Amino acid sequence: MSITYKFHGHATHELMINGTSILIDPFLTGNSQAVVSADDVNPDVIMVSHGHADHLGDTVAIAKRTGALVIANFEIAEWLAAQGIENISPQHIGGGVQYPFGYVKMTNALHGSLLPDGSNGGNPVGFLITSEDKNLYFACDTGLFSDMALIGEVGLDLAVLPIGDRFTMGPADALIAIERFLKPKRVVPVHYNTWPPITQDAAAFKTAVETATDSQVSIMAGGDSIEL
Ligand code: NI
Ligand code: MN
Repeated sequence: MSITYKFHGHATHELMINGTSILIDPFLTGNSQAVVSADDVNPDVIMVSHGHADHLGDTVAIAKRTGALVIANFEIAEWLAAQGIENISPQHIGGGVQYPFGYVKMTNALHGSLLPDGSNGGNPVGFLITSEDKNLYFACDTGLFSDMALIGEVGLDLAVLPIGDRFTMGPADALIAIERFLKPKRVVPVHYNTWPPITQDAAAFKTAVETATDSQVSIMAGGDSIEL
């Protein structure tokens, strides 16, 4: 009984929970930080936070090849169905579903969600995943919001937070999220250094967080894994 979290670079994540592989925002083609290709992954489940290309990524190709269950908001689920994907579990913000590997609740995210063909992807989401008595929060692309306090109240073992700035929280707002609202045991910063406009100093962020809070920051490169 274990959970392994693997980072695939940028904002692409994999959880391995008792033999089930869950890919979150499978952006691999064009992801310079990824060390695997879209043809190499074999997830059982794919979660999509929003419609932007660096998150929707290779969802359609991977889902068609593997038959993985795709979890997405209602609008993206409808769009995926129109692309020929059949194994879909629609949800929406505030709603949770118990799957064999754990409970997945969609959370708020302050962001946009246009799909690649210009379709409306609905509101973007984050994910709060509860499994094996652990609470894992993937904020996905979002700005800071004080309702993160409600997410933090469950007691987070892991918070995966963007720090790139420009399109999402930057390091200063991520520190506020950690210190005031989320209070997670461990933080993994993501969504930075993929492209020049989101260049950040992760080591400085780690020092700032670990100086101001009890949270531990794990700086991960694409392909790195941690046991939770
Ligand atoms: Ni985005
Ligand atoms: Mn993004």
